[in-house]
Amino acid sequence: MHKSVITSGARGNARIRGGVATSQKHDSAHKHVTGTASYIDDMPEPEGTLHLGVGFATVAHGIIKSLDLSAVRTAPGVVDVLTWKDVPGENDISPSGMHDDPIFAVDRVQFHGQPVFAVVAKTRDQARRAARLAKIEYEELPGIFSIDNLDPATARQVTTPLTLKRGDARAAIDAAPRRLKGRVKIGGQDHFYLEGQVSLAIPGEDDDILIYCSTQGPSETQHLIAHVLGVPSHAVTVEVRRMGGGFGGKETQANQWAAMAAIAAKKQKRAVKIRLDRDEDMTSTGKRHDFIVDYEVGFDDEGHILGVDFLYVLNAGFSADLSGPVGDRALFHCDNAYFYPAVQARSAPLYTNTVSNTAFRGFGGPQGMVGAERVIEEVAFATGKDPLEIRKLNFYDPMGTDNGRNITPYHQKVEDCIIQRIVAELEQSANYAARRAEIRAFNAKSRYVKRGIALTPVKFGISFTKTESNQAGALVHVYGDGSVHLNHGGTEMGQGLHMKVAQVVAEEFQIDIDCIKITATTTGKVPNTSPTAASSGADLNGMAAQDAARQIKRRLIRFAAEQYQVPEDQIVFLPNRVRVDNQEISFGELVKQAYIGRVQLSAAGFYKTPKIHWDRSKGRGHAFYYFAYGAACAEVSVDVLTGEYQVERADILHDAGRSLNPAIDLGQVEGGFVQGMGWLTTEELVWDDKGRLRTHAPSTYKIPLASDRPKIFNVALTDWSEAYEPTIHRSKAVGEPPFPLAISVLHALSDAVASVADYRICPRLDAPATPERVLMVMERLRRQRG
Ligand code: MTE
Ligand code: MOS
Repeated sequence: MHKSVITSGARGNARIRGGVATSQKHDSAHKHVTGTASYIDDMPEPEGTLHLGVGFATVAHGIIKSLDLSAVRTAPGVVDVLTWKDVPGENDISPSGMHDDPIFAVDRVQFHGQPVFAVVAKTRDQARRAARLAKIEYEELPGIFSIDNLDPATARQVTTPLTLKRGDARAAIDAAPRRLKGRVKIGGQDHFYLEGQVSLAIPGEDDDILIYCSTQGPSETQHLIAHVLGVPSHAVTVEVRRMGGGFGGKETQANQWAAMAAIAAKKQKRAVKIRLDRDEDMTSTGKRHDFIVDYEVGFDDEGHILGVDFLYVLNAGFSADLSGPVGDRALFHCDNAYFYPAVQARSAPLYTNTVSNTAFRGFGGPQGMVGAERVIEEVAFATGKDPLEIRKLNFYDPMGTDNGRNITPYHQKVEDCIIQRIVAELEQSANYAARRAEIRAFNAKSRYVKRGIALTPVKFGISFTKTESNQAGALVHVYGDGSVHLNHGGTEMGQGLHMKVAQVVAEEFQIDIDCIKITATTTGKVPNTSPTAASSGADLNGMAAQDAARQIKRRLIRFAAEQYQVPEDQIVFLPNRVRVDNQEISFGELVKQAYIGRVQLSAAGFYKTPKIHWDRSKGRGHAFYYFAYGAACAEVSVDVLTGEYQVERADILHDAGRSLNPAIDLGQVEGGFVQGMGWLTTEELVWDDKGRLRTHAPSTYKIPLASDRPKIFNVALTDWSEAYEPTIHRSKAVGEPPFPLAISVLHALSDAVASVADYRICPRLDAPATPERVLMVMERLRRQRG
């Protein structure tokens, strides 16, 4: 059974097709399912295109003693071999300015799978075969492959840690009637986008180069490649029509491969393509950070949290990449939806010899919340109460009230808290209390199958914490026939961003959506854009596109007023028509007249998010423009003999504000939840004692299958919420916030597991809660129970 509620959202009478707040299918839905959507590997290759194969490090940490590439050079089809010596500019693609991300290893390798050289050959197969013929001698060095045994006090941090502090957490914990300490381990996650990393570089005249790249951040790819090639940014154009999924894995991780293709294309004066295969992609690109969270909490007998202290240790991998900001966002979510009267939270992004971890849907936020929810669970077990009751006791103040219980650990006031209403509605619709009682009765009788249920909230902060990233641009052209060309800085990765931005423009001009052409993102049209990340794509680019459309609209109004000699307020944009005084003309007709009247019909729009500021050194600020909320209730059944489980049912109520497109947003909620479920249940990354990733293919790395989806899956958007701030049409970002709704599944598993010890011991179930781990924890609980 599958039920998703799509609210119509239509307001007013006559409507254009595809305005805002209406459910529209993804603009490429039909092309996606018929195989006609063009991805980079589908594009016709220019005559004489060459292909890259990469030579990867076969040890995790070592000095390169000798590099013999002679057999590679003479292999069939090989045209050239590239090493760091072939990089015309700087051999670095670090996104953080730390200069610690070489394109090709120089004298040492820092993780197994690090690129050492690349082969340029006539075919991809030839390039890949030749790459295996290298003879590299390493002097192996000891490596660190996990954060398990690192002491954050002495281990090397890749970047400055952050501390958030409000009140005196130590004193509050010490003074609390009850206190406890614990640790939760949280595994990483591979992005497993369907389309792997791919780039096609085409040299032009002078130093020009055009790169088709599956990247979430075309501007950053552009600037880094300019740096690598030693040319100005104006020489480099990066274009992306769509990605076959990004999920954060193409925020920085696309750059290395694009840079290799660019270097080769420039050197050979030929088009060069690179496409990693799945094993290479998984071995050599960064993933979600695994974390170890240490917590100490002081609370009272009712379950009020009085003080809490967190240490979030994260595995940065061999370089900084985005680990600093990811650790920061984890701390920003160590409260989830809860008010802590006194709190200290620290991050420790530690260096290891694994691939450099990176952005992944939620960007550390989900890991932050797993820490918060574990603390809640501990308090619930300690006080013998339903975890949901503890959650409700500790929520931030609801919107409109202010008893001083709405200040975050980073000193921002939460002004828009609607978690109470969401949880109350979901509790009702999911029939939580009755089902919980029924499950307990079932477990008392059932020997081999135990069931569990949990209802968990989400509060997710919207904005890049790096203030300058909160800006966007758009370019809108209206052609003489009234058709519209839309471009903006955001990239499409399946999330439906282009459709939403097109809806905004359709609404502005009051024209049907099919009058608007969605075009590929390119640095040549809209410059200096931020990566499409932090869920802010529609918020930022929607606003920028609205600004561009409004400029043109204003010019049209001014023109019509003059032409028809009527006051400007007598010109009204009706669906596909414009009323000028008491006559109506089509939008196309007005545009045609305006063209003849020499009115500029093109505009560049711009937007920057107001209000936000953040002082990292003080740990204070208004880091987020607003918060998105949601809650999920999951029910699982566990086989006590094997630890295998199924998600029997999940109910979700999620807040997308006044949704721009409920159909697309529901897709984001469902997809995010299932992806989060994979992270917390079956997706396990395993490195061996030589630092080699052993789970680099779907045979060993288990993402959720269609058959793993909750058997009953009720997903709805709140149809009453709207953004507290004037966001684009009062909608809210929805890309990442639903991901941590899957924490409900982890806690439902924990609830099922706890039954084997009569709910007296907090299971302390770590993630991913694979069947093996579930089984082991049940065994431990049985022993502890005695
Ligand atoms: N949805 C799909 N189908 N594919 C993706 O790659 N990426 C997620 C989310 N939803 C992703 C997705 C991530 S990590 C982010 S930050 C947002 O989409 C980015 O897009 P938005 O800002 O337009 O929501
Ligand atoms: Mo999403 S992790 O911000 O690309």
